[in-house]
Amino acid sequence: MHSIDPSANGAMPNLDASGMQNYRLGGDGKHKLTAGVRNILIEHPAFASGIRAIRDCHSLGLFQIEEPGRLLIMGVSGSGKSTLRKEYARLHPRRDTETGTEIPVLHLELPAQPTIKNVAERILLELGDPLFNRGSAEVMTARIVTLLRNCHVELVILDEFQHFIDRSSEKVETKVADWLKYLINTTKIPFVLIGLRRCSRILQSNEQLRRRFCRQIVLEPFPIRNKQELRIFEGLIHSLLDSLPVPPSDEFIKNRDIIERVHFATYGVMGYIMTLMSAAVQLALDDGLTCINVKLLERAFCVAVWPNGRGSLNPFDSRFIKRPLTEREEPFFGY
Ligand SMILES: Nc1ncnc2c1ncn2[C@@H]1O[C@H](COP(=O)(O)OP(=O)(O)OP(=O)(O)O)[C@@H](O)[C@H]1O
Ligand SMILES: [Mg+2]
Repeated sequence: MHSIDPSANGAMPNLDASGMQNYRLGGDGKHKLTAGVRNILIEHPAFASGIRAIRDCHSLGLFQIEEPGRLLIMGVSGSGKSTLRKEYARLHPRRDTETGTEIPVLHLELPAQPTIKNVAERILLELGDPLFNRGSAEVMTARIVTLLRNCHVELVILDEFQHFIDRSSEKVETKVADWLKYLINTTKIPFVLIGLRRCSRILQSNEQLRRRFCRQIVLEPFPIRNKQELRIFEGLIHSLLDSLPVPPSDEFIKNRDIIERVHFATYGVMGYIMTLMSAAVQLALDDGLTCINVKLLERAFCVAVWPNGRGSLNPFDSRFIKRPLTEREEPFFGY
């Protein structure tokens, strides 16, 4: 993982730009450069405070207190929740010791349509139990408690927590939520739950979980409602552009309007920012272009964000009427 901190001053580290001069890269070379873009990690302020909040929760748990820290992280799709989880886990890897595997941070995605049994199975699988799908719910739960202790698990992070609300009926999976509460109480390990904003409804309907997860943080899309927010977004985009294997054109310096257009094209959501830029890099490498310009972003938007976003519906087209693309059948509907 290659990380950049947009708030830091000074030169940004560059990706391996070998082959940049002649642009006659073979397929593998191009794919390596494009994949490199997807591996860039931007440590923007909300990301950094998310890591800090998880670390606080983790550290408090090491003191074996009765009610260790618990944290709920929410945000729209693509805002970087799972990236946060994976990065924190990467910083605390599993260790093989003489007595077995130690797993300081156990992290996983909860299954769609969770039941006590399929959630227990997922946890056992992640704990390395070869018999992960054997036994009654009670037996599985007892094995989870034992393995969490034996593997010295210090923190559990469960992603996709919104699956605890049934999409069609809006019903909260109370039985599984109660089971989770039992696990949290019994193990006294700090838990971090991650999911879409509707997770807060699970807590509304379950006051005991609500009390346990009073610490909450939200990862929002980057807003540009005023000059200061626009400057922050601009800093983020420039840090990213500086790290790309194909440089941006002068238009990015001369024409500040482009940053606003990038925002319309991505709604300020990290996931869309990254797919737009990596598609632009891919197109530039395919066509042997020497820089990323507005014309290229116009094509990248259609490729990576919205195939129907042509002409006046494309933020990089001069005919685009500046407005968020949040109407029905537009890419950011429901955001
Ligand atoms: N801080 C970041 N730096 C670089 N890329 C990021 C960052 N945050 C997110 N991304 C990229 O954006 C994409 C979406 O991120 P991620 O999967 O973490 O979102 P999410 O909030 O978990 O979405 P969902 O709710 O749909 O699961 C990923 O490809 C990821 O690489
Ligand atoms: Mg996710």
